[in-house]
Amino acid sequence: MEKEMVEALIEAASAQLQYSYAPYSGFKVGAALLAQDGTVYTGCNIENAAFTPTNCAERTAFFKAVSQGAREFQAICILGGPDGKLESYTPPCGVCRQVMMEFCDPEKFLVILGTGKGDWTVYPLKDLMPMGFGPDNL
Ligand code: THU
Repeated sequence: MEKEMVEALIEAASAQLQYSYAPYSGFKVGAALLAQDGTVYTGCNIENAAFTPTNCAERTAFFKAVSQGAREFQAICILGGPDGKLESYTPPCGVCRQVMMEFCDPEKFLVILGTGKGDWTVYPLKDLMPMGFGPDNL
């Protein structure tokens, strides 16, 4: 993936931090999901007083995208930190990895993690979900 595209996704994910609703953990997360056609769908984490209904930033982005007709994706960028301060990588939780497995080719889909200091790292989904269960297993 081109550096310019990675930087655009980092920018879009970063812009989501202001919308993060995280009154319980204080941990703000933003995500930017790049669809096959080039459209970027953004998301933030949305917490809940009952805790379990909390939705991660990545799933917000995926559910926004799928609910608008997108089904094929290239990459997702995730940024997060305490009170939105970006200090280290925020890897996707297991539930979000499973949602990625539903819509993405684990060999091709890229997970981009940034620190907010201008650096980033990229993992193919297959490395984050070895022997993952997906639609092909049914
Ligand atoms: N969170 C995400 O949004 N994405 C992840 O993959 C890691 C965790 C959110 C959920 C919760 O609102 C907060 O971070 C602390 O777990």
